[in-house]
Amino acid sequence: MAMKQERGARGDRRRGRGLAPRLALVLAVLGGVAHLGRAQDGAPIQLGPSCVTAECHADINQGQFLHGPVNMGQCQPCHVPVNNQHVFEKPAGGEPVCLLCHETEQPKAVVHAPFAADCAVCHDPHNGGNRYFVKGGLGAESCNQCHSDVSAGLSMLHGPVAVGECLVCHTPHQSEHAHLLVEPRATLCQSCHTDVQAELENAVSVHTPVKQDCAGCHNAHGGNREYFLVAEGQDLCRKCHEPFLKQMSQFKHPHEPMSEGKGCVACHEAHVSSQEQLLKAHNMELCLSCHNETIEGARGMIENIQAQIGNARFLHGPLREDNCIACHQAHGSDHPNILEKAFPDSFYTSFESEKYDLCFACHDKQIILEEKTAATGFRNGEQNLHYLHVNREKGRSCRACHHEHAANQPNHIREEVPFGRWRMQVEFEKTETGGSCSTGCHVPYKYDRASPVQNVAARE
Ligand code: HEC
Ligand code: HEC
Ligand code: HEC
Ligand code: HEC
Ligand code: HEC
Ligand code: HEC
Ligand code: HEC
Ligand code: HEC
Ligand code: HEC
Ligand code: HEC
Ligand code: HEC
Ligand code: HEC
Ligand code: HEC
Repeated sequence: MAMKQERGARGDRRRGRGLAPRLALVLAVLGGVAHLGRAQDGAPIQLGPSCVTAECHADINQGQFLHGPVNMGQCQPCHVPVNNQHVFEKPAGGEPVCLLCHETEQPKAVVHAPFAADCAVCHDPHNGGNRYFVKGGLGAESCNQCHSDVSAGLSMLHGPVAVGECLVCHTPHQSEHAHLLVEPRATLCQSCHTDVQAELENAVSVHTPVKQDCAGCHNAHGGNREYFLVAEGQDLCRKCHEPFLKQMSQFKHPHEPMSEGKGCVACHEAHVSSQEQLLKAHNMELCLSCHNETIEGARGMIENIQAQIGNARFLHGPLREDNCIACHQAHGSDHPNILEKAFPDSFYTSFESEKYDLCFACHDKQIILEEKTAATGFRNGEQNLHYLHVNREKGRSCRACHHEHAANQPNHIREEVPFGRWRMQVEFEKTETGGSCSTGCHVPYKYDRASPVQNVAARE
């Protein structure tokens, strides 16, 4: 209950100032009354100079701390004799009696039910083992007189709860914040977890709920999971990202780490990150943190991408910019190989330019469309060899010749092409005006843009 000044921190000894004069006033008003009482046999007894003697009410001024008026031997402000006899009604411990001397607190948005009802359910009006005479002490025991133990059934307790310090987070009387919190939810936790606060200030991306409410993910009292998390793995994220996860679950080709292992936090930080979108690392570094070995995937062996690109002479443009997600969707996709856009996952396919949407998002599709052209370097005279290979009923996919990530031959021509179980060798020689190709597909052929080569009959 605030005295004249604002309610200060615990231990603020100034808050009693102004009380003594009020006390004196109350005593003056009550003074002069003849104090008679009755002995147990009914005979009137004189109210003595003190109500506390070795025989009478000896317990009232015991205890480590005495309430101001009791300390001064004054019972009357609170106990008014009935008919001037030694008969006292037990005063209600509520506001009327306490507010004789203590000032009313400014009402706040959230009032603790017992505070509105009865001060004496918590405060002993006479004395106590703590400076506020709180029954049960200033720790959890006092709260547990009415509340079920918040630590019950929890295998791990939050530091302050473990030592029963409820009052570092809750106020016993009233508060502006729900659940009687001493601070807004947004700053309560950071007031002690200053390292988390420091991270927030220096981060590139901050997870919105971390700024608003740590308790959205952590149970404030403790829990049965590490870090008292309110849920585990994907379920934690699902609490708020349900629509997003629903969308993700509909992909024809999910990316396994979404649901296996650590789930979302394999790639995302839960609090803050030095990367956009809370990523644990920049995207290529992130991808290669797992794709630095062959992985036995559900659909067969997945190559070690780190090894593919590690020693290659030529990296495909987007990889030179450390950007795997230029082509892949980290969460999953309706296209094979979790690609951003369509790209066939077979060696042969009947031609439709939409099947190559991925490549033609960045490259000019003219290289493939016309039988005769100057739009591509892959031509013999004006005969378009891209058209010849790709644009037909049993067309070859780009991957028959090009590697999508990295290669040691110019123009990203592969050294070997997976053809069923055979790793078919491809030897590509480039010249000023053309090139030659030696592969399992056909006898060695040459092409020349300036003076077309007459190759031996093709098997096509
Ligand atoms: C007759 C005046 C009077 C009445 C009535 C009174 N108090 Fe007090 N109270 C005081 C004085 C004087 C102090 C001592 C102030 C100090 O030491 O700073 C005090 C101190 C306290 C303190 C300790 C405050 C602190 O900051 O250390 C509490 C708690 C308290 N009173 C609760 C109550 C409650 C609960 C009631 C009603 C049951 C009540 N008081 C009724 C005069 C009164
Ligand atoms: C600040 C107000 C206040 C003062 C001062 C005060 N009392 Fe009380 N007293 C109460 C209240 C309130 C109750 C009822 C407590 C309850 O219901 O738990 C009470 C109860 C009692 C009781 C009956 C219950 C018990 O605790 O045994 C006795 C006896 C008593 N007081 C004696 C005294 C004496 C003697 C003094 C003076 C030395 C005194 N009181 C001073 C407020 C006061
Ligand atoms: C739910 C229990 C509870 C109730 C009910 C309650 N108090 Fe308190 N009160 C406490 C606790 C616990 C503290 C100690 C706070 C701390 O350590 O910060 C306290 C502290 C105080 C203090 C000293 C600190 C301050 O805020 O100035 C006063 C005075 C006080 N209470 C008066 C009252 C009065 C008057 C009422 C009734 C209107 C009341 N209390 C009702 C639990 C209660
Ligand atoms: C005298 C009984 C009593 C004591 C002692 C008591 N409380 Fe309460 N508390 C209540 C009651 C009654 C409510 C209202 C319950 C409700 O609304 O469901 C309440 C409500 C609360 C709430 C708000 C709950 C909510 O969901 O908004 C919090 C927080 C709380 N108490 C914390 C404490 C703490 C901390 C202590 C110890 C310092 C404590 N209480 C001591 C009786 C008590
Ligand atoms: C680290 C701060 C902190 C400490 C310490 C703490 N609480 Fe809480 N408490 C909270 C927060 C935050 C909420 C609101 C939880 C939410 O909204 O999910 C809460 C909610 C509550 C509630 C109402 C909701 C519920 O869970 O029933 C009660 C009652 C409560 N606390 C009692 C206590 C008691 C008793 C203690 C001491 C044993 C304590 N608290 C210690 C932060 C704390
Ligand atoms: C009064 C200070 C205080 C407040 C307020 C506080 N904490 Fe704590 N917290 C601690 C202490 C002390 C520890 C134990 C530290 C340790 O063991 O290293 C702790 C531990 C934790 C841990 C476990 C850390 C680990 O490495 O195991 C989490 C999670 C946590 N707090 C979250 C929160 C959240 C969420 C809030 C707000 C609802 C909060 N804290 C408010 C003091 C506080
Ligand atoms: C979106 C959910 C979420 C929110 C909101 C959140 N956390 Fe966490 N927190 C986590 C997860 C998940 C972990 C475990 C991290 C891991 O496994 O890498 C964690 C770990 C922690 C840890 C222990 C590890 C460490 O970093 O020291 C502390 C302490 C902690 N959180 C405090 C906080 C505080 C304080 C806030 C609010 C400022 C907060 N958390 C908000 C999800 C969250
Ligand atoms: C308590 C609610 C809550 C939980 C739990 C939660 N999030 Fe969020 N998350 C949000 C909100 C709110 C946003 C901001 C959404 C917006 O701006 O549209 C967000 C945004 C994000 C973003 C985008 C960040 C950016 O910078 O664009 C990512 C990534 C994210 N969350 C991942 C996760 C992961 C992973 C988890 C599980 C560990 C998780 N979230 C759990 C509420 C939550
Ligand atoms: C394999 C790594 C990886 C995993 C696992 C992962 N993410 Fe992401 N996430 C990313 C990347 C990379 C981005 C940035 C995508 C972009 O910029 O196009 C991202 C972006 C996001 C975004 C913001 C952009 C958007 O698409 O709305 C949210 C929200 C998000 N992730 C939530 C989640 C959730 C929830 C999970 C767990 C179910 C999860 N992520 C698992 C890598 C991952
Ligand atoms: C946490 C580890 C992890 C991270 C990080 C990761 N992946 Fe994966 N990825 C896997 C695993 C495991 C598989 C095998 C899934 C399966 O069973 O098919 C896989 C499969 C793939 C596949 C083949 C999918 C299919 O349908 O065959 C592609 C493509 C892929 N990842 C790309 C990426 C990209 C791009 C990134 C970065 C954005 C990335 N991965 C980050 C673990 C990871
Ligand atoms: C230019 C687009 C593009 C970029 C950028 C790209 N990929 Fe791919 N990736 C593909 C295509 C196309 C396939 C399918 C190849 C196939 O079917 O032979 C593929 C396949 C994969 C596979 C499956 C390999 C297998 O053996 O099944 C993984 C894993 C993969 N990429 C990871 C990555 C990683 C990691 C990065 C960044 C270092 C990356 N990709 C960058 C286009 C790209
Ligand atoms: C996100 C944009 C992007 C996508 C998607 C993309 N590429 Fe590229 N590609 C580039 C860039 C940038 C270069 C480098 C151009 C340069 O160096 O002038 C390049 C270079 C090439 C080259 C070498 C060109 C030369 O002149 O040597 C080939 C071949 C190639 N890409 C094939 C493909 C194929 C096949 C696909 C589809 C699987 C594809 N690209 C998808 C951006 C992309
Ligand atoms: C039969 C092998 C083969 C196939 C299939 C193939 N290419 Fe090429 N591509 C080449 C060769 C060889 C070159 C180098 C031409 C030169 O500069 O001498 C080339 C060059 C390119 C270039 C560089 C620009 C140009 O046209 O000269 C791009 C881009 C390209 N290819 C994309 C594709 C795409 C996209 C596909 C699939 C739709 C594809 N290629 C299919 C062999 C092939």
